Amino acid sequence: MNANTISLAVINPDAPVDSLEAKQPHIDNGTECYDKQGYFSRDYMEREWERMWTRSWLIAGVESDLPAIGDFFLFEIRDESIIVTRTEQGIKAFYNVCPHRGTKLVWDERGNKKVFVCPFHSWSFTNNGELRRITDESTFQPEVICHRPGLAPVACDTHAGIIFINMDENPAPLLDSLGLPAGYLEAYQIDRMKVVRHVRSEWGANWKVGVEAFYESYHLHAVHPETRGVMGDLNVQYDLYPNGASRMIVPLGQPSPRIHDQVTVTEGLKMMLQDAGIDASGFKGTAADVRRAIQQGKRERAERLGLDYSRFEDGQLSDSWATGVFPNVQIGCHPEAVFIMRFLPHESDPERFYYDTMTLIFPADDPDYRPPLWMGLPEGIDVSGNQRPATEHYTIEEDARLGQVLSQDSALLPVVQKGMRSRGFKGQLWGEQEQRLRHFHVELERRLAQE
Ligand code: FES
Ligand SMILES: [Fe+2]
Repeated sequence: MNANTISLAVINPDAPVDSLEAKQPHIDNGTECYDKQGYFSRDYMEREWERMWTRSWLIAGVESDLPAIGDFFLFEIRDESIIVTRTEQGIKAFYNVCPHRGTKLVWDERGNKKVFVCPFHSWSFTNNGELRRITDESTFQPEVICHRPGLAPVACDTHAGIIFINMDENPAPLLDSLGLPAGYLEAYQIDRMKVVRHVRSEWGANWKVGVEAFYESYHLHAVHPETRGVMGDLNVQYDLYPNGASRMIVPLGQPSPRIHDQVTVTEGLKMMLQDAGIDASGFKGTAADVRRAIQQGKRERAERLGLDYSRFEDGQLSDSWATGVFPNVQIGCHPEAVFIMRFLPHESDPERFYYDTMTLIFPADDPDYRPPLWMGLPEGIDVSGNQRPATEHYTIEEDARLGQVLSQDSALLPVVQKGMRSRGFKGQLWGEQEQRLRHFHVELERRLAQE
């Protein structure tokens, strides 16, 4: 049986082929079993760094974190620290290193500076990267400093309110490598959304194990059984785009097809109705009507709040469009909020990664207008967007308060990582519910094969 005949769900069979909701044409990525050494080997980790991380467009952050000139944040990946800052000429990025003796120049994670002063000998630089002042300049031989050393630039571009950097000195244009259709990310107006929580936690697995766990809904019934009453799993639509990008549409507000009771409006479904601004106690329908009711409720609420939802398909109002951007990002897209998760490699250990998540909310004058429950915001988080919270950092031993679902994943992934080490394990065997994993690996191998 080939992949064309394996039955997988289509969320909206009536979606026009050019609509963003339409099932994408099948891509044959083969059936290869990849060498498991890629999850442990330091050589492989170095090859990923040299050929992939340092040559790819990477999501460094979001535009709304840099509203004013002089605003900056640091993007840290492995041993590199990169300053991303808004200058008079737009958003720019520089290696966070002083050209004098190599000191890390900026130490604060974010802030506002028009001038960067090095903590070692106080050379200073404008936020445009130009050398501003050399301390005791007359004590230098002119040949040493006549090139007026400034900060080394990093390629930087923005798309749909998201800031990308690329350490390649001559990268292909961002839009050529993104892979997603025009209008896809733009629809969410992420440039208007505000970060309400940012967490960076360390997990005990290779970064690819993280990507893989979040690229499929196959494990929901086993690892997150509590989701069965409120979301689909077997009936998820998986789509592959060029350059390793992919998407899954997870229908929310309906029971999984794996469970028998498709009628009872459970507490979980009631909470989802409530979340959409619907009085759940007066709801007359069955479980099968909840998803549609959520869509209608959200359309009505948007109208009341003066928000234009005409650009969204009905499914975008209820479902999770989990969108993968190669190499290391998944964006959970909803009109009210997006959840940007980045899987960042550890500095030295191939069996650890950083799970970096930002929850952004669209500003609206309604107390119920919140990120969906699955994003796991703890009680008491300020969702007004008025104050950019500091990034919360958690070590591998600490509880990052990611909510039930994500805590289940963080507990499981080290077990997967360890199991893969076994002599008895020969390599991963992916089904078509895991087609995004294979698509990701095909692209990764393609990049690693490039000289
Ligand atoms: S290393 Fe920066 S001023 Fe000396
Ligand atoms: Fe999970």
